[in-house]
Amino acid sequence: MSSIIYPTTNLNQIEQISICRGDGIYVYDEAGKRYLEGLSGLWCASLGYGNEELIDAITQQLKILPYSHLFGGRTHERAIELADELASMVPIEDARIFFANSGSEANDSHVKMLRYYFNVIGKPQKKKIIAFEKSYHGVTVASAALTGLPAMHAHFDLPTEALGILRAETPHYYHGQIDGESESEFVARLVKDVETLILREGQETIAAFIAEPVGGAAGVMVPPKGYFPALTKVLEKYDILFWADEVICGFGRTGNDFGCTTMEVKPDLMSLAKQLSSSYIPISASIIPGFMHDAMRDPSEQVGIFGHGYTYTGHPVACAAALKTLEIYKRDKLFENAAAVGGYMQERLREFSDHPLVGEVRGTGLIAAVELMQDKHTRTSFGDGRVGAIAKQFCQEQGLLIRAVAGNSLAFCPPLIISKEQVDEIITKFDAALELTLSYVTKEKLFTLR
Ligand SMILES: Cc1ncc(COP(=O)(O)O)c(C=O)c1O
Repeated sequence: MSSIIYPTTNLNQIEQISICRGDGIYVYDEAGKRYLEGLSGLWCASLGYGNEELIDAITQQLKILPYSHLFGGRTHERAIELADELASMVPIEDARIFFANSGSEANDSHVKMLRYYFNVIGKPQKKKIIAFEKSYHGVTVASAALTGLPAMHAHFDLPTEALGILRAETPHYYHGQIDGESESEFVARLVKDVETLILREGQETIAAFIAEPVGGAAGVMVPPKGYFPALTKVLEKYDILFWADEVICGFGRTGNDFGCTTMEVKPDLMSLAKQLSSSYIPISASIIPGFMHDAMRDPSEQVGIFGHGYTYTGHPVACAAALKTLEIYKRDKLFENAAAVGGYMQERLREFSDHPLVGEVRGTGLIAAVELMQDKHTRTSFGDGRVGAIAKQFCQEQGLLIRAVAGNSLAFCPPLIISKEQVDEIITKFDAALELTLSYVTKEKLFTLR
């Protein structure tokens, strides 16, 4: 057994597949078997593998300046260029950008900057953060506390209470609707519940509401269209910032530049990572509005520094990778490709809606999930994630890599460069895997065909 501690893995069941190379939207294992990367690795390798232009930009930067930092009066061109480029792209006024290495760090940095800001403007009690009951925001101590998934909390003693994390119901209509309520009634009820929560806790104690515009690892959940506009109206009323975790949605995933554009909501703060550099080199960004930065400047002078930063904040090679990635997105119109080919993928996946195991097919752009249910007629879920895990395994045998998330939702999130023909390939492989799953669960008496 290797000495690696495997992340997000059953520690008794490890090293199932060893990937040794990639090309376009495909990866290969050591035996030479080819797999279609149906989840872009971990929702991130947007340009696929072997993009020579990106590799060249990274190699070039390695030769010029392989490392430098941004602490205490040092800077470099690549970081300045990237910050300017991002500031011009995001829907945040006078955007200020803090760089880190991962989505978790971006979210942790936001938690700290929110605390810093409200402390220095004389509102030290305004610290609580509302997050969805089912949500994924990372695994560092603070971001794991924001994450609403039991497996990411068990045995870790996270300081959820100390950090003032509050929960709001996840706006997933398929599971959350009660007594045949309409989608708009569902939205109105959930938003009212958020308002009740704010009034109970006191608006003066709540700093922000964090949400993914379209959920990813917590089950690929697309909120009803009106949810975010109604929610942010309430947040504005009570002076609470809306913080969009765009770590998966950002940069074309939902068929637009950002998930916020797709969901018609304007964020105050944004977290970006993954597709920012197509994941060839790790980099993330926490974006705050200019007014927060302005308020933090003088207090930092009194202390002597703004006491937050990483050795690899604004790493020049990561910045060069991100700049080239953004250039390719724009030049090759990859957000438009995500909208067009994504629309086709959504249509084709919906062909499985009538399958006896399929409860809901959901998604937008190039992110989707097919949720397997024990009884689709009564919307009854399987008791555990075994069926999703089996289906994922059958997909793998067919040469399709996807993930089962939040139990039995099979998630699709292929690279933005995918073509319609390659979507057809996903569908063919998934169709075969789903039939094998149906035979298996029927034989094992995990499922009864009605
Ligand atoms: C929405 C969201 N936020 C944050 C993270 C954490 O990012 P990282 O794994 O880079 O720390 C993820 C990772 O999947 C994510 O999906």
